[in-house]
Amino acid sequence: MALIELRDIYKVYDMGAEKVHALNGVDLSVQRGEYVAIMGSSGSGKSTLMNLLGCLDTPSSGSYILNGTAVQELDDTQLAAIRNKEIGFVFQTFNLLARTDALHNVELPLIYAGLSRAERRERARQALEKVGLGSRMTHQPNELSGGQRQRVAIARALVNQPSILLADEPTGNLDSATSEEIMQLFDELHQAGNTVVLVTHEPDIAEHAWRKVTLRDGKVTSDQATSRRDRRRSPAS
Ligand SMILES: Nc1ncnc2c1ncn2[C@@H]1O[C@H](COP(=O)(O)OP(=O)(O)O)[C@@H](O)[C@H]1O
Ligand SMILES: [Mg+2]
Repeated sequence: MALIELRDIYKVYDMGAEKVHALNGVDLSVQRGEYVAIMGSSGSGKSTLMNLLGCLDTPSSGSYILNGTAVQELDDTQLAAIRNKEIGFVFQTFNLLARTDALHNVELPLIYAGLSRAERRERARQALEKVGLGSRMTHQPNELSGGQRQRVAIARALVNQPSILLADEPTGNLDSATSEEIMQLFDELHQAGNTVVLVTHEPDIAEHAWRKVTLRDGKVTSDQATSRRDRRRSPAS
């Protein structure tokens, strides 16, 4: 079974006088271990789709099966629980706690998971090592560069060992050299077996993924392998 199965998903935002049809019948399956880029112009529904995938919101209609669980049937408490277990989320604006060092930022999701203080500390340490920030554990966000802040956010997303890593425009606030470093980190995480779905509107960023899904007006208009996957699979390379 696919890790993610979306069937005929609609999302309508009810703005009182106006209804915004953000997703209009999306079908999408993602297998464990895939590396997918979601592309599309501003307003095409990318963030809406990511919020549904990440169980931050529920669809207006349609079915979403995440790792065998029918998400559309869950209440808010159950949604929070599945989110904590299955999903690691990375945002464009990092969303770290200010005046809180890297170690404590990364530990946060583990508090809800009910781990002991020592275990939390150890897991957070390992996650920070994994993203190359072993020497920055006691730095606060304002003492880190943009790329380092995003690495802390990625460590926080990974610390619960989620089934899937979701990133909405993770390089949107970074310069191109730093973006490339962050994408190399995503490449490594994919290589290590993580399922990665990221949103971008930049073609070079999308080319890191192995599969590219394009949205337009809340519908999937194309779904294809990137040249990256073709190169990997080619015996000549
Ligand atoms: N919370 C919301 N309430 C009302 N409308 C929204 C909300 N979030 C997004 N929208 C609208 O839904 C459409 C899709 O938005 P979004 O998913 O953010 O697109 P993208 O991430 O591709 O730019 C847009 O028309 C946007 O204005
Ligand atoms: Mg968006």
